[in-house]
Amino acid sequence: MRGGIKQGSITLLAGPTGTLKTIISSQFIYNGAKEYGEGGIYLTLEEKEDGIRQSLANFGMDVDAPEVKDKIQIVDLSGLRKRKPQFGESKERYAISVDVLMETITSITQKSDVKRLVIDSISILGLLYKDQSDMRDDLFIFTEFLRESGLTSLLVTEIEEEYRGKRVSRFGLEEFLADGVVVLGYTQSKGELRRWATVRKMRFTDHNLHMHPVRITPCGVEIVSTEKIY
Ligand SMILES: Nc1ncnc2c1ncn2[C@@H]1O[C@H](COP(=O)(O)OP(=O)(O)OP(=O)(O)O)[C@@H](O)[C@H]1O
Ligand SMILES: [Mg+2]
Repeated sequence: MRGGIKQGSITLLAGPTGTLKTIISSQFIYNGAKEYGEGGIYLTLEEKEDGIRQSLANFGMDVDAPEVKDKIQIVDLSGLRKRKPQFGESKERYAISVDVLMETITSITQKSDVKRLVIDSISILGLLYKDQSDMRDDLFIFTEFLRESGLTSLLVTEIEEEYRGKRVSRFGLEEFLADGVVVLGYTQSKGELRRWATVRKMRFTDHNLHMHPVRITPCGVEIVSTEKIY
């Protein structure tokens, strides 16, 4: 991507289960704090805060280390997700909404200097809407809010197992609002699944469209930019 994700942009990180979305996105927050001294918010809507800490700790990344402690804020909103709205119920009864996300982010950015944001994952927002155009309107408002905030954002989204050029987002509309889309997936080869990552779109920069191998190393996840998977 000729230097990486542009500051202040919005990137969708899409992939089926187990493609390392949570590890990659939490590593993005950790590395921002450790390597660049940038404050980061990790908003988790699915996994518990402890799970995020644990996965980072497994790769030697300690969010409580003195040099990063004040810069990383893991916010666990999974508790708001009490249950799915039943058919016919108003969405107000469902506690995670675009408004809640915007309020949460605003209250943190008013108090501290934050440059990076992860939302893991935005897929759950879709449960709120019966009408796709309502969802499109709210997502538009939300992405405008993110742009104005100046945060460099990674929005995690779950997609179907078989990718092969199909939808790169859960609802088929998030990708148009994001500046960039990185797709993670699996390919079967010689009796095993291999993980790959592809930059499907990245506004403002040139990039290749290769399926790059994704490896787990003792220090975290690595996307091998010099190799491709066939
Ligand atoms: N310590 C570790 N060493 C090696 N591999 C690990 C380790 N911890 C996790 N993994 C791998 O990471 C995978 C989980 O990654 P992660 O939670 O980031 O996936 P995800 O894309 O967020 O999944 P989901 O869609 O279910 O949230 C595990 O299935 C396992 O293969
Ligand atoms: Mg995850």
